[in-house]
Amino acid sequence: MDWKSYWNKVAVTAKDPIAAVQRNDLKSIKQSASHIISMLKITKKDTVLDVCCGNGLLTELVAGSCLRITGVDQSDELIKNAKNLSKRVNSSFILGDALELSYVLSNQKFDKIYLQFSFQYFDKKGMGAKMIKEMISVLKPNGLLFIGDIPEASKRLVFYNSLPKLFYYFTSKIRDKNSMGKFWSPDDLAQICIKFNVKGTYLKQPKLLEYSWYRFDYLIERI
Ligand SMILES: C[S@@+](CC[C@H](N)C(=O)[O-])C[C@H]1O[C@@H](n2cnc3c(N)ncnc32)[C@H](O)[C@@H]1O
Repeated sequence: MDWKSYWNKVAVTAKDPIAAVQRNDLKSIKQSASHIISMLKITKKDTVLDVCCGNGLLTELVAGSCLRITGVDQSDELIKNAKNLSKRVNSSFILGDALELSYVLSNQKFDKIYLQFSFQYFDKKGMGAKMIKEMISVLKPNGLLFIGDIPEASKRLVFYNSLPKLFYYFTSKIRDKNSMGKFWSPDDLAQICIKFNVKGTYLKQPKLLEYSWYRFDYLIERI
């Protein structure tokens, strides 16, 4: 799947900014923001990076709790909208491929980094590891990295829970047109963390989060 074209198309056809990042409502974005702030222990002293920030709806909510926040996304349409919608003086948005994060950010470093509702788009061989490596490279020593809302491999059949959905899954996979992306196992992430000598922790999501029935979170610390 060409995710850049996919998200540019979603952005121009969506009926509102919430639909443009395929969220159901503002409440779930607010819940994600509170969850991220709590998991990363974000304070007013922290510089924060939002990887795959979309149109910045989530970024703007986290901005109220930190010193400065930068959002990066590869969709020109969504970044254009993020810049137009932004009301915070401490948020900024950069167009670029998250897989080239250190280059895109000219090696700026951050106290806290998150990648929310987007890890599934790093779906080709080696991409997940490369994405994590790039985020670690722009994380300060003792910094924290949170990957939220990762579709869990063991829940694939809970998600595709009917014959029409399974049919869609297999046919879209064959055509490389599956709009869900990759389901990850916690062990995949653990292996990546071992490779890069960082501490990784699997986090089961609280039930109140909208996607907790098939997604998990993962916290990474530099050691
Ligand atoms: C579902 S939206 C998530 C937006 C936001 N993080 C949230 O939680 O509401 C997924 C975003 O990932 C972005 N994305 C996917 N692959 C990317 C890549 N390689 N580099 C930068 N952004 C990417 C898309 O452009 C899109 O904005």
